[in-house]
Amino acid sequence: MSVSLQSERLAEVVPDVLNALHEALERNKVTEEEWMAVLAFLTEIGRADEFILLSDVTRTSVLIDALSHGDDAATASDVMGPMYTVEPPFRKKIYEEYEGMSPDDDVLLVRGRVTSTAGEPLPGAVVDVWQTGPAGGYDVWDERQPEGNFRGRIKAEEDGSYEFQTMLPKPYTVPTSGPVGRYLEAVGQHPWRPAHIHFKVTAPGHRTLVTQVFFPDDPYLDNDTIGAVKPALVRPVEKEDDHLTCDFDITLAPA
Ligand code: BEZ
Ligand code: FE
Repeated sequence: MSVSLQSERLAEVVPDVLNALHEALERNKVTEEEWMAVLAFLTEIGRADEFILLSDVTRTSVLIDALSHGDDAATASDVMGPMYTVEPPFRKKIYEEYEGMSPDDDVLLVRGRVTSTAGEPLPGAVVDVWQTGPAGGYDVWDERQPEGNFRGRIKAEEDGSYEFQTMLPKPYTVPTSGPVGRYLEAVGQHPWRPAHIHFKVTAPGHRTLVTQVFFPDDPYLDNDTIGAVKPALVRPVEKEDDHLTCDFDITLAPA
């Protein structure tokens, strides 16, 4: 997705942002030395490709999500985060076993229906999901995992139903080895996120939904470092035979 900022919006928003920034600098009597340190920090953020991460941990992404999505009848949206990779394979089991998984880790079946706000099924809707493994975080952080592990796309059936097999994720920390990690430490903010699965759901004629699903009793539900938990997105997990299940119906708004 590429969005170019229109010049009228720039003319409207930028002076306001600058006023707020100048006021804060003035109120706090920020010194030349401190300001140079801020600029050096932002340069580092850019070099480390951590601007999305910075937007997330400062809760700016959550604010923009709230400003961008109304209270229509669609499923609640949520922050995308920096871990999405485009076009993972279509598959119903989104992972391969890897060294580091434990026999105590739970297989999880996620299922539901994709419908319009009018209640019509949306066959062919594409449910694109990504998440951390039960140990070691995202595939891109964990050398033991094959590339693309815990990522996949599922096409909704004629009745709008979809289903995929995964493992119940666990809470994890956002990356802390770069400049954002130093920022978190400096302001005394912990780096943990509650366990979640990311969804990006598309269907022709409908607004793309980016969201996340969370699970009850997670120690970080009330203090997600990016502040992205919405009660409507916390879904129960049930035991069924030798695995867990989680039902998540998805409603898309018209485009
Ligand atoms: C994530 O949920 O994938 C995520 C969000 C913020 C920072 C890093 C990862
Ligand atoms: Fe995530």
